[in-house]
Amino acid sequence: EKAGYKHFMLKEINEQPRAVRDTTLGRVSLETGKVFLPDMKISPAEFRAATGITIAACGTSWHAGLAGKFMIERLARLPVDVDYASEYRYRDPIPSPTDIGLLITQSGETADTIAAQHELIAKGSKTLAICNVVGAAVTRLAQGTITTNAGPEIGVASTKAFTAQLTALFTFALYLAQVRGTVDDTTSLHLVTELSRVPGKIEEILRSVDDQCHELAKHFSTARDFLFLGRGIHYPIALEGALKLKEISYIHAEGYPAGEMKHGPNALIDETLPVVCIATKDPSDPSSVLKYEKTLSNIQEVTARSGRVIAIAIEGDEHIGQLVEHVIHIPQSHELLLPILEVVPLQLLAYHIAVRRGCDVDQPRNLAKSVTVE
Ligand code: F6R
Repeated sequence: EKAGYKHFMLKEINEQPRAVRDTTLGRVSLETGKVFLPDMKISPAEFRAATGITIAACGTSWHAGLAGKFMIERLARLPVDVDYASEYRYRDPIPSPTDIGLLITQSGETADTIAAQHELIAKGSKTLAICNVVGAAVTRLAQGTITTNAGPEIGVASTKAFTAQLTALFTFALYLAQVRGTVDDTTSLHLVTELSRVPGKIEEILRSVDDQCHELAKHFSTARDFLFLGRGIHYPIALEGALKLKEISYIHAEGYPAGEMKHGPNALIDETLPVVCIATKDPSDPSSVLKYEKTLSNIQEVTARSGRVIAIAIEGDEHIGQLVEHVIHIPQSHELLLPILEVVPLQLLAYHIAVRRGCDVDQPRNLAKSVTVE
């Protein structure tokens, strides 16, 4: 059942190339760059007239939503709010009837997410679901569903469902952009081509970093706390890296926007604190390069205080190796697709640390795969 893997989580981490590929299958044309979202009861005219998107989700799916905000705002130039589903209806939200609600959920049965959906519908919004389970509750209430074809996820810690959600969000952002006329054909074709290269790049990462994460686990499995830093679209991935580590290894971990460190958390840094910094860049994108440079100075603030940095950087970035103790290299990609690659080493790092600590990786204490109570 585990196909030779020691745990479902490890099997599912390794299934990500396929999960991502299957999530794009039949939805994008590699010839024209066009995106198709079939069975959508929200018309292109409604998407064109939309004034905003409200995303509600929980946990890992909420992290995907935070990354999705960057994708949608950048490509479709439409404002996006991201809410914890468990908070949404208690603040008496004010969506406009021309806002579209987007629920992101692996199981499609999370009570908080469904409650947020009811609230959106009651306030007049149409809702769309990104869901991994065909026919799940959330999809029955929604006017459209983008199924993440990750296949059944058994490990309590979400892995392949997350990368499939990021893929679905990228596809949706590009669809919106095409419908709303905010991308031209050349850009569309470029983005779709980059998307089609992601599965192969995940395969490369799985081959190249597993041993390294295993080694790093030896160094860091006894740490009491961990910090994960990122900027922009990489910040949600820092949050996800921290969540993976805490839920399966029971090590306290926090994700933080790199630029916020000097506003308080720098006080935590000492020689015992591992700090995982996402320091990737898309060299063809000036805003990505600028963010990267800012992140490098944040890294130097950490090393100056003897913090032990593990950096995630793109292949060919040799400079960063001179600044930090450990570097995990991943292939280069478009800025909006890098998150799908960055999270893979963070999953493996959490996995190997948890295994080393003798934790039950697939069934962490106090957690359930599907949370059907509010
Ligand atoms: C973390 C994890 C949870 C879920 C959350 C939402 O690894 O799995 O944080 O992401 O409970 O579940 P879904 O996506 O089924 O709504």
